[in-house]
Amino acid sequence: MDIVTLFPAMFEGPMTQSLLGRARDRGLINVQIHDLRRYSAGDRHRTVDDRPYGGGPGMVLQAEPIYKALKAIKAAGTRDFGGKQKFYVIYMSPQGRVLTQKQALDIAARPWVIVLCGHYEGVDERIMDFVDEEVSIGDYVLTGGELPAMVLAETVLRLIPGVVKEPGSLLEESFQERRLDFPHYTRPSVWRQRRVPAVLLSGNHQAIKAWRSKRAQSATLKKRPDLLSR
Ligand code: ADE
Repeated sequence: MDIVTLFPAMFEGPMTQSLLGRARDRGLINVQIHDLRRYSAGDRHRTVDDRPYGGGPGMVLQAEPIYKALKAIKAAGTRDFGGKQKFYVIYMSPQGRVLTQKQALDIAARPWVIVLCGHYEGVDERIMDFVDEEVSIGDYVLTGGELPAMVLAETVLRLIPGVVKEPGSLLEESFQERRLDFPHYTRPSVWRQRRVPAVLLSGNHQAIKAWRSKRAQSATLKKRPDLLSR
């Protein structure tokens, strides 16, 4: 995955810590962060934006620096993969399709994903000819595409084999499009007069499975009935 951004430093935390940091260290995932300003026209201020035609507030990211960034990434990737690499370009935008677990699975199956982070009022619409899909992380507006790109990266990259330690947890999650998880408990079995449900201490795996399924169902009904009617 290649991420093109005006703010590469914002990615340092999420990409070096925790799950993604470990996966990167172990060579399971290849995430490169690209500074869009590297592809500016080369003026002293390394400009990549300009005022909108037709007037109005804010600045618009120019098409050419983004085009050049895409071209450079694709050129490097094509060399690595014998010229056969298929790139999939995603633009993070509140106008995109809202990200779901199913969509994350589709994206994870792509051999090479390039993620563009927008900023200011948006990007020059003409760059959309080079974008395969716009992705939103929800119906609310952020200042830029950086945090959304991190959400997308974490959601997609944890689906890559080996990134998450127990593949079983991924399998269970495949249902989470339509159903919430069951409640979890850990030691101590009694905490401030609150007991762990007895069935979980019974050692009866069949009974535990049935209880979890029932509780997942009732939690969904109570907290997210919209998932069941979808
Ligand atoms: N950029 C700004 N807001 C966004 C959102 N909700 N999803 C994706 N990209 C965005």
